[in-house]
Amino acid sequence: MTRSARLSPAGFVAVLPLLCAAVQPAWAQNSNETTLGMRLFNQSCRVCHTKPQLSSPQYGPALSMNTFGGNAEAIRQFIDNGSPRMPGFKYTFKPAEIDAIVAYIKTIPAPAAAAPASGKSGASPGAD
Ligand code: HEC
Repeated sequence: MTRSARLSPAGFVAVLPLLCAAVQPAWAQNSNETTLGMRLFNQSCRVCHTKPQLSSPQYGPALSMNTFGGNAEAIRQFIDNGSPRMPGFKYTFKPAEIDAIVAYIKTIPAPAAAAPASGKSGASPGAD
C-alpha cells in the first residue's frame, strides 16, 4: 500500500478551502449574502431609500423586513421592474445580486411607527 499524494497533508490543505465552500453552513452563506446585499444596497439604493441627514427629505419609502409584508418575491419583482418613480435593476444586477439585496432588506428592522400595518391584525385570507 503506497501513500499516495492525495493523502498528503499538503494536498489536503490545498483542497480544504474547496471543501469548506461546498459544505458552508447556512448561516455563513446567509451572512455572506446579506453582506453583499448591504454593499449593493449602499451603492444603489441608499440614495433614495434612506435619509442622508435628519433634515433632508427622503425620496423613496423606508425599506425593512416589513416591506410588502416580507414577501421576498414581491420585493424582488419590484427591484427588477421598478415603478414610474423608481428605476428597475434587472439589467444592472444579476439575479443572485438581487436575491442578496432582498436578503439584506429582510434583515432591516421595521420602523417602530410603521409596524401595525402588517402582522396578525386579524383574518387575512391565505396568510397564516
Ligand atoms: C431614484 C431613486 C430610487 C432608487 C435609486 C431606488 N429606489 Fe426603490 N423606490 C423609489 C421610490 C420613489 C419608491 C416608491 C415607488 C412608487 O411610489 O412608485 C421606491 C420603492 C421601492 C420598493 C417598494 C417599497 C414599498 O413599500 O412599496 C422597494 C422594495 C424598493 N424601492 C427597493 C429598492 C432597491 C432594492 C433599490 C436599489 C437596488 C432601490 N429601490 C433604488 C426610489 C428609488
